[in-house]
Formats: sequence, structure tokens, C-alpha cells
Amino acid sequence: MSDTAPIGTSKSERPDLDALWMPFTHNRYFKKNPRLIVAAEGVHYTSEDGRQILDALSGLWCCNAGHRHPKIVEAVKAQLDTLDYAVAFQAHHPKAFELAEKLCNAAPDAFKHAFFTNSGSEACDTALKIALAYHKARGDGSRFRLIGREKGYHGVGFGGMSVGGMVANRKAFASALIPGVDHLPHTHNIEQMAYSRGQPTWGAHLAEDLARLIALHDASTIAAVMIEPMQGSGGVIVPPVGYLERIRELCTAHGILLIFDEVITGFGRIGELFSPDRFGVTPDLITFAKGITSGMVPLGGVLATAEIYDAFMQGPEHMVEFFHGYTYSGHPLACAAGIAALEVYESEDLFKRARTLEPIFEQAVHALRGESHVVDIRNCGLAAAIELMPRAGAPSTRAMEVFHQCYDNGVMVRYGGDTIAIGPPLTISEDQIGMIVDTIRDAIRATA
Ligand SMILES: Cc1ncc(COP(=O)(O)O)c(C=O)c1O
Repeated sequence: MSDTAPIGTSKSERPDLDALWMPFTHNRYFKKNPRLIVAAEGVHYTSEDGRQILDALSGLWCCNAGHRHPKIVEAVKAQLDTLDYAVAFQAHHPKAFELAEKLCNAAPDAFKHAFFTNSGSEACDTALKIALAYHKARGDGSRFRLIGREKGYHGVGFGGMSVGGMVANRKAFASALIPGVDHLPHTHNIEQMAYSRGQPTWGAHLAEDLARLIALHDASTIAAVMIEPMQGSGGVIVPPVGYLERIRELCTAHGILLIFDEVITGFGRIGELFSPDRFGVTPDLITFAKGITSGMVPLGGVLATAEIYDAFMQGPEHMVEFFHGYTYSGHPLACAAGIAALEVYESEDLFKRARTLEPIFEQAVHALRGESHVVDIRNCGLAAAIELMPRAGAPSTRAMEVFHQCYDNGVMVRYGGDTIAIGPPLTISEDQIGMIVDTIRDAIRATA
């Protein structure tokens, strides 16, 4: 380890890796080629061999204010000295109310209530349950269908997985996916929109597929449409101009709730707190997670309009209105981190910073056009994807090699299929953006 590396795990101190079953990871391959992170600060990780690695993915799209922001660290430490946990049902603690109020005040006007979960997956399943129960509460319980979108990712709960559109995540569980789910087509089409900067101009017509599904199933059976305004895990697929507007129009006309899954797009990733302030389309429910605590403590949730909340607040007051919740809904540590993160985003004007950096970031990533194997580059806010041509018979190996090269050369990116994704912390500098792109370029050139 170098002198600058904090005391932690070094290669020689590495624990046995066998017992841990790693999430969404090729376990056997990883354990032969481990990459262990032992510390982080700002936009850098420290690896177990003491190297500084520039984090071009904000953890996993979550550390939007950078790692270990001192104000968030301080708030979490102070919370630990006061209240570790308070029962979440039938009693609660003040910070959960404070965070809900702060979040609703900062969110687009329509959103007046926040329900807390621990993760994005739980947020998605919660939003789907709110949608179904909302219609029932209004005496419209025949609305049971849920509509998602191909390539959509809404976490790994049975609701989110069913509405999601990632084949690999669904196929092993096909027999257990929830019934009554249909999917819109995804909007990515290389022939029509390769190298789009920001929102592609082609593709709004794909929203008409919702009209087809409404005609097929009848609106009276459809409870909600759930989509990511910009698809993140599917490979940074930016909504075509006019697409979200048309989806909103159809939902409104047919009494269908529109849920935006903003687990990635929230908290500055696309230059605003949430996507309505960027794309001008307001859903009925918003799911969030990740950036709300800048990744420091797990926290997710759902924002709801007054109309939805009020539909539940009927009947005798001594009755539970929504039979749903988690032991750790609104955990004190998470709420302390969330309040501090919101203050950091505001006091450091980080969303504006993301908007200011966006053209520089866009210019830098699109400079990779023309490198061998690159077939598309797309971006929005501080998120971008570089898509590579898959090797014949060996899909995803090219992107995996690029990922490894980048890591070895000091930059953490992400790959899914043959797409490299980047989404640096909003605190990244122009020089560091240049460094990320130069490292990806070198890695692509080194990859046959
Ligand atoms: C849009 C979206 N929804 C839901 C999730 C699931 O969140 P979590 O991994 O916190 O359960 C993710 C995770 O990447 C996501 O990107």
C-alpha cells in the first residue's frame, strides 16, 4: 500500500473470498480477478493495492455529491450519538418527517407526500402497490394491469422485475412473474438515433404503442404505466423529444397512473432534482433512492400527489390506510444522511453545476466517435453510454475488457452487455472528465 492509502485491507490482508455470494457479479471470474475497494473520498476510490481510482460512476449511480462528503458524514455520526433506531410503525422519529417535508418542498409542486423504503427495488414495488391500492380505494378495482417497457430496470423485487424489461433478469423467474403485465417497446434504435446528443429527435411515435395496449386491454383494466424517464441500467437511453409528453397524455386521458422511476435520474443526474424540471412532464408517482443520501446510507421511497394520498385517507381514522411498510422505512441514519445530502446539493448548487458541466461532458464523450468498435454514444445530464460492437459469438467480452483496462489505468466505469456507462459525481472537474474519456479511449484502442 502507498503512504497515502488509509489503513485498510491490503492485498496481503485480503479475506477469503469464497463465502460471499456477490450480487449481479460473475462470482467465479471475480474471485480469480478481484477488485477490492478499501476507501473512498470525493471522486476517488482507493484500491487495496493503494491506487487512486477515479470514480466515473458515482458508486453505482448514487454518490452524486462525491464519496464521504464531510457534512453528510458529520450528520450520520451525530445521529448515531442520539438515536440509532425507532420503531417505524405506530410511533416514529422526527427526522423522517423533516426529510419528507424537505423533499416535498424541493420536488415539483404536485408532490406532497413521501413514503420511505430502503432501496430502489422496494421503492418500485411500493409504487406499484400504491397504484393498485389507489384504484381500489376509489372503487375502481378492476384496474389491475401494469405496463412497463422493454429494457426497463425497476429493481429485483417481483413487482419491479415483472414490470421491468431486462430479459436476463426475468427469464429464470418467468413462472413467478406477476400476471397482467405488458410492455411498451424500448426507444433505442441505432439506425435512427446513433450519436444523438441529449434527447433524440426520432422515436416519439413509439409512445403510440400505449394506445395499442389500451385498445387491446381496455383502459378500465390498466392501473399504471411505470417507466424510467431516462433508462439508466438499460444503457442510458434518453427519451425522444415528445415521447414522454405523449405517454402522459394517454395516461391522463384514460385514468391510468404514470409512475416515473427516478432512482437514477433523481438528485442531479440529469441536472435537476427530478425529471419533470428537465423534460417538462409530471407523473403521478416518483420513485427515488441512491442519490438521496449520496449513497451513504440505504434509503429509497415514493413521492405521491395529494390526490393519491388523499384517496387512501378515507374511512375510520383508527384504521391503517395502507398495509405496507418496512422495519427500516425512514431509518434515522438514512434520514439524517438524506437531510444533510439535500442541504449539500442546495448549498453547493450541485444540480446547476451538473448543467454547467453537461456540454463539456457531452463534447468529451462524443469525441470517442470514430474509435474502432464504437457504434453509438449517447448522453443526458452527467450520464453517458458508449456502445461497442459485440464480438461475434462472445457478446459483452469487449466491454468487459475495456472495463478492466480502465480499472487498471485508474478509472472505474461500468459495463452492461457491450455498453460502457459513465455517470461521475456532480463534483467532478473538467480535467477529470477529460481523464475519464482519455482512459476509455486508451482502453478501447488496447482492445481488439
Ligand atoms: C431505475 C432503477 N430503479 C430501481 C433500481 C433498484 O434499486 P436498488 O438496487 O437500490 O434496489 C435501480 C438500480 O439501479 C434503478 O436504476
